[in-house]
Amino acid sequence: MTQPKIPTAILISGRGSNMMSLVEAARAADYPAEIVAVISNRPEAAGIAWAKSQGISTRVIDHKAFKTREAFEAELDKALHEVKAEIVALAGFMRLMTPAFVAKWQTRMINIHPSLLPNFKGLHTHEQALAAGVKVAGCTVHFVRAEMDAGPIIAQAAVPVLSGDTAETLGARVLSAEHRLYPAALRLLASGRITCKNEKVHIYQEANDSSVLFSPKVE
Ligand code: GRF
Repeated sequence: MTQPKIPTAILISGRGSNMMSLVEAARAADYPAEIVAVISNRPEAAGIAWAKSQGISTRVIDHKAFKTREAFEAELDKALHEVKAEIVALAGFMRLMTPAFVAKWQTRMINIHPSLLPNFKGLHTHEQALAAGVKVAGCTVHFVRAEMDAGPIIAQAAVPVLSGDTAETLGARVLSAEHRLYPAALRLLASGRITCKNEKVHIYQEANDSSVLFSPKVE
């Protein structure tokens, strides 16, 4: 018997390339999540037009139209309820959530961040990585908490930082890892293989990869 797919809403603010990777992954018959809506807080978000063109239900909830964060979130909550979302995936969604909203979605709202957290929170992560001189960079999928980029870590992917990298070249390498990591992390969550206890994530039946990424590559 096939398991019912978990209705999932994606929240975006911009171009939506991570949203696209989730939508494309979810087309597979055996993928455990179904993308039921793409919601943007910015009317001009390019990702909204793409989602529409794919026949996905879309919604713009412009945060500027609301006096308070709570009022914006009430409208968001209503929209999520209407599409019966059980998981919320933030994909380049540029708003901080209030503690009350986060509490409602404690183990069902995830985000992708373009650094190996807890390093390089906030914006300009690739500039931060280059300034720190790290030789490995990457991305993280985590549960959302009220504090920015601070939730329990679900999954990470690492890429090398190469001599001569700019924020653009490193960012492109990290982004292509994001596009593989986010669908894999959503798969874990939607298939019920993740639990979170004491703010640490435990994964059942994980596929272990014990390979080592050397950066620079060793001879
Ligand atoms: C990604 O790098 C994501 O990690 C970060 O914002 C960027 C959004 O890009 N949170 P896109 O809109 O998914 O293309």
